[in-house]
Parts: sequence; structure tokens; C-alpha cells
Amino acid sequence: QKPIIPYEEIGEETLSKMIKIFYSKVAKNPKLKPIFPDDLTETARKQIQFQTQYLGGPNLFTEEHGHPMMRARHMPFKITPERAQAWLECMAEAMDEVGLDGKIREIYYKRLVLTAHHMINSPDNDE
Ligand code: HEM
Repeated sequence: QKPIIPYEEIGEETLSKMIKIFYSKVAKNPKLKPIFPDDLTETARKQIQFQTQYLGGPNLFTEEHGHPMMRARHMPFKITPERAQAWLECMAEAMDEVGLDGKIREIYYKRLVLTAHHMINSPDNDE
């Protein structure tokens, strides 16, 4: 019996499509837009690398950028509970649009909820 690797279940193409859709939503989201760069090409490229390894694929992010230290990398930005919620909503919509469903989506999304909450470094209403 082979272990299930989420990255292989989802597939490189779907993952990359989902992340691109995700950032097109971030770019339009009033809560998220202000803290992101105008050009999200490089951000999307890094996120694809990160999600690839997060889901058990090759360690593309670490190979190019070193230890993820995701919370530390987010410290320059005010990550409020409201923004974490908005981030997760954009991701859920992107998952819908690529047709990611079933058990794999449930497990993946739950993990993102935990990671997103871990990223919070500032209270709401603190601009
Ligand atoms: C980078 C916001 C959650 C993974 C960033 C950047 C911002 C941001 C503003 C910098 C973009 C840039 O300058 O290119 C947020 C907000 C979140 C959140 C508001 C809400 C909780 C997450 C989560 C993950 C994640 C849950 C992973 C599961 C990344 C990665 C980068 C990044 C991989 C690129 C890091 C780098 O530049 O080396 N995020 N993020 N983020 N974020 Fe998030």
C-alpha cells in the first residue's frame, strides 16, 4: 500500500491553477489588497513552491528560499483575524473554481485554517 501524498492526488496543474485564481481574488479583496504588492506574479510563484512542499511534494520553497519560518515571514504585515478569514475565503473560492472537493479538500482546507490562524500577529481594528 502506497501512502497518499496530497500533492500527487491534487496534481501540479490543479495546484498551480488554484494558486493563480487565489491571487486574482486577493488582488480584488478590500481587506487583503492593501498589504500585498501590486504585481502578484512573484508572490504566486513562491506560494506554488510553498504549497507543493506543504502538500508533500518536492521541497521547492526551501531549496530556493531556505527554512519556511512562515510566521516570521509574515511579521512585517499586520495579519488580523479579519484578514486571516478573508485569506481563507479566497482560498475556498479558488478550490471551488478548480473543482477540488471530497476528503482531500477537507483535509487540506482544515490544515490551511490552522496555519492561517497561526499567522495572526495583530488584533482586528488595528490599522
Ligand atoms: C507571503 C499575507 C496566510 C504562505 C505573504 C505576503 C503577505 C501575506 C502580505 C507577502 C507577499 C509578497 O510580498 O510577495 C498573508 C495573510 C494571511 C496569510 C493576510 C492570512 C492569514 C498564509 C498562509 C500561508 C501563507 C496560511 C501558507 C499556508 C505565504 C508564502 C509567502 C507569503 C509562502 C511568500 C513568502 C516569501 O516571500 O518568502 N503572505 N498570508 N500565507 N505567504 Fe502569506
